[in-house]
Parts: sequence; structure tokens; C-alpha cells
Amino acid sequence: MEIKLRKVGIIGVGHVGAHVAFSLVTQGLVDELVLVDINNQKAISERHDLLDATTYLPHRINVIAGEYEDLGDCDIIVNSVGKISESRDRLDELQQSVDMVDSYIKKVMDAGFNGIIINITNPCDIIAYHIQKVTGLPHNQVFGTGTGLDSSRFRNVMAQSTGIDHKSIIGYSLGEHGDSQMIPWSAVNLGGKPLSELEKERPETFGNLDKKDITYRTIKGGWFTYEGKKCTEFGIASTAARFIKGIYHDEKFVTTASTLLEGEYGEEGLYISIPVVVGKNGVEDKYELNLTEEELKEFKDSCSVVKENMSKIK
Ligand code: LAC
Repeated sequence: MEIKLRKVGIIGVGHVGAHVAFSLVTQGLVDELVLVDINNQKAISERHDLLDATTYLPHRINVIAGEYEDLGDCDIIVNSVGKISESRDRLDELQQSVDMVDSYIKKVMDAGFNGIIINITNPCDIIAYHIQKVTGLPHNQVFGTGTGLDSSRFRNVMAQSTGIDHKSIIGYSLGEHGDSQMIPWSAVNLGGKPLSELEKERPETFGNLDKKDITYRTIKGGWFTYEGKKCTEFGIASTAARFIKGIYHDEKFVTTASTLLEGEYGEEGLYISIPVVVGKNGVEDKYELNLTEEELKEFKDSCSVVKENMSKIK
């Protein structure tokens, strides 16, 4: 009997992919990593750097600087190729990202891959949908980090605004991983106590929250980070690692991710972020929140933005 080692592939080891790799090894979430990049020397260097860290990591890891063909027996592949658009609109990266994915995804599937693909490449929702379409993998096995990252940003801004710990703030950003995302404030609770009740019972802390500013700081959080370092790394890497932890431990935890809508919220035929249950099979369930009429309109407006741009793929 042979123990199956946890094997994750990362396609694109730029700022994002390299930090995903480092998050996985420092959290002890993988046993084998396959790093693939169009710049093979970059993958080789990242491999060397990660192995230099091994002595002080939770456990031994094996890292390969490989080719697409080496990804066939990975459990999970993280897709993190791409180049940030100077326009600071992720949608402007669409065609370049589609062309990049199309240049290798068949090689991955021809190598026999049948695991879970977590897409980070922007525009995240449309690229996740494109990957699912071109691979033909079941849609529970292909999802995007989407507003899983933005929900983290929201909880961070709320923690800063209220003094309550991030983990006790349950709240999401829904929709496009982009400017049209929205926050269903009616669903925000702190430790199970609805924000709407706290606004009345603790007005000194919750009565004057600048929801417009909090929403803005959530949506633009990535660009605030980008300003001084021309990339984002830690937030997205932690988000991807969180999903991978949930898969390997079959946690069935709830967060937001970009997944296929099949009638939820009255929408279908697109990938966009809603609350999902993440376990060993990837996206195992999808939750419909009871949105207010205004929130549902905002969410559907975001769906329209994604659908309009899906049609631009050449
Ligand atoms: C961000 C990138 C991952 O929002 O889209 O940081």
C-alpha cells in the first residue's frame, strides 16, 4: 500500500504563483509542488528558493520545476498566469489571459489531469468559466478565487472599522472580482448577531459605519496594494491556500468563490462569486442569501457586467 502524497501544480510562478507556493509550504499543506512557468528559469529559481526554506518548514517537501505534461497527476492546479493591466480594470486582461490559457490547457488535460483547478488569472470569473469550458471538467472541480479575496478585504476593513476580529465578522462581497462587486449588508453578522441589531444596540461602535467607504475600500483594496508594489501577493496567496486547505481536509467550509450559476439568484450560464461550500470535491454546494431587492439588483448588475464581457472572447 502506498500513501498518496498531496501534489499541487502551479501554472505561472510570478508574484502571485510564487506566493501561493510559499503559503502552501509554510502552512504544511502540500508534499509535492510542480512549478510551471513560460520562463522555466523562473520556475527553477523559485524551486531552489523554496527548497532553501525546507529545513525550517513544517515538513519535508518535494518541488519540481516542470512542464505542463508533469501536471497530469496533481490533485489540484492553481492557474496564476497573467499581466496586470495598466488600466487597473481586470476586464482589460481578458484576451491576453484567454490566449495564455489556450496555449497550454490542452497539454495539461492530455497529461491526464482530472483534479481541481483553482483559477486566479484575471478577469477571474470569465477565465474560470473558460477553463471549465475548454477542459470539460465538472464545474464543481473548476472555480475561481473570485471575491474569496474581496470578502477577506471586506472583513479586514470591517475589523479595522469596528475593532472586532476578522474571524468573528461574517460577511461577503458578491459578484464580479472587479469594480461591479457588491456587499450584501443585510447578511453581515458578527458572531451570529446581525449587524442591523448591533447598529441599534451598540450605536457607539456600529451606529456610524461608513458603508459606502467600506465598500469602496473593499472593491479598490487590490489597487491600494498595487500602488506601491505593482502587484498583490499575500492576500491572494492566503486565499488560494485557504481553499486548498479546505479541499485537502474536506472541511466543507463556507466562503465566496467564482462558480457556475445554474439559476441561483435568477442567473445562469456564467461564473461569478457567491457563497459556496468547499470540500474534497471542490465546490460542493452553493448558497442563495436572502438579499434585499436593492442588493439583488446590484448583484444582477454585476452578473450583467460579466456576461457582457464573456461575449468579447475571440
Ligand atoms: C487582486 C488580484 C488577485 O485583487 O485580482 O489582488
